[in-house]
Amino acid sequence: MSALYLFMPFALLLASCQPPPDERHHMPKASAARGLDAIERAGCGACHLIPGLDWPEGRLGPSLQGFAGQGLIAGRLPNRPDMLAAFVRDAPALVPGTAMPAMPLSEGESRDVAAYLYTLELR
Ligand code: HEC
Repeated sequence: MSALYLFMPFALLLASCQPPPDERHHMPKASAARGLDAIERAGCGACHLIPGLDWPEGRLGPSLQGFAGQGLIAGRLPNRPDMLAAFVRDAPALVPGTAMPAMPLSEGESRDVAAYLYTLELR
């Protein structure tokens, strides 16, 4: 028997340990394209470097490059779609004392923004 037959079950087992990013961050009805528009309008770039946004590249907050692969939001909240949408809209409500201000986004816009942030994979 070829070694491949022995190896395959282990490979499948390993592959099933972590769902692929698109499944973990599945956001029905949210639009990453609308999210980028909302990010531009709200001025997130004043404080963050956000790939896809030409300008500005603020340094007050953390760079959001590769954010999709990050385990926690602001070092303490699980990086899940519902949590991220709530955070970008009203961070101080979830992380008291944070320097990230509440932003003028509707609930729908904040979901779109989260969908865009989940397109930011590390290359
Ligand atoms: C006034 C500056 C400022 C603006 C404007 C701002 N942020 Fe932030 N943001 C911060 C700071 C500071 C942090 C770090 C917060 C912390 O760790 O408590 C942060 C954290 C974050 C995080 C978590 C990053 C991480 O590595 O865990 C995300 C995501 C985020 N901001 C998205 C946004 C989005 C989207 C917008 C626009 C809707 C926005 N921010 C607007 C300052 C800002």
